Amino acid sequence: MTAYPNVIAPGFEEVFGADFRLKGCWADEVFGNRHPLVLELGCGKGEYTVALARKYPEKNFIGVDIKGARMWVGATDALQNHLANVTFLRTRIEFIRSCFASGEVSEIWLTFPDPQPQQSRENKRLTSPRFLQSYREIMQPGGMIHLKTDSQFLFEYTCNILKSNNLRIITCTDDLYNVGSTDDILSVQTYYEKMFMDKGYTIKYLKFEV
Ligand SMILES: C[S@@+](CC[C@H](N)C(=O)[O-])C[C@H]1O[C@@H](n2cnc3c(N)ncnc32)[C@H](O)[C@@H]1O
Repeated sequence: MTAYPNVIAPGFEEVFGADFRLKGCWADEVFGNRHPLVLELGCGKGEYTVALARKYPEKNFIGVDIKGARMWVGATDALQNHLANVTFLRTRIEFIRSCFASGEVSEIWLTFPDPQPQQSRENKRLTSPRFLQSYREIMQPGGMIHLKTDSQFLFEYTCNILKSNNLRIITCTDDLYNVGSTDDILSVQTYYEKMFMDKGYTIKYLKFEV
């Protein structure tokens, strides 16, 4: 994947306690336009990143994950289909403030993040106060976050965090496919979503502001 023009993999020293060279410059140096920038965090194979990019050519999309082998699937799909509004960033989500400037991101998707149920791992949950704060620091005011999950635990945890921090919840359902949603982008199914649906789990969805 090192030869892929749509995969960027900063070294540890480029993001740990440092500002990555593309911070604040994604529009000019990567996409060549000023379109809104949308992130999928923990993108895995990048199904959402690619589906969103196809549906919204007037926006730019970056799939972020630490696992290169999974990302390769989405990066290959985007390249073969000439999707110029897609890039993948291979790094830890803990480093997003090193990678994006204040207000640079307009929207974030969290697709089937690991629920991390052990209390000792609360800080690893992608909707913990620690991560929400880092999203707030890179997002435009009023920017939306979408969470899709199979996990009742993560769904309830996130609802409680949002309520206790007085964050605005736009949509909240614990059974997305039984509420008659008309938004077809919500019906995109990732690798993990298909796996959990096959096991009979209902899909939960939250849309909120940070
Ligand atoms: C359960 S998988 C979901 C993948 C994909 N979104 C899907 O729905 O199929 C969680 C993904 O998040 C990534 N991930 C978890 N914690 C991460 C972190 N701190 N930084 C970067 N990636 C992370 C993992 O590598 C994995 O690909």
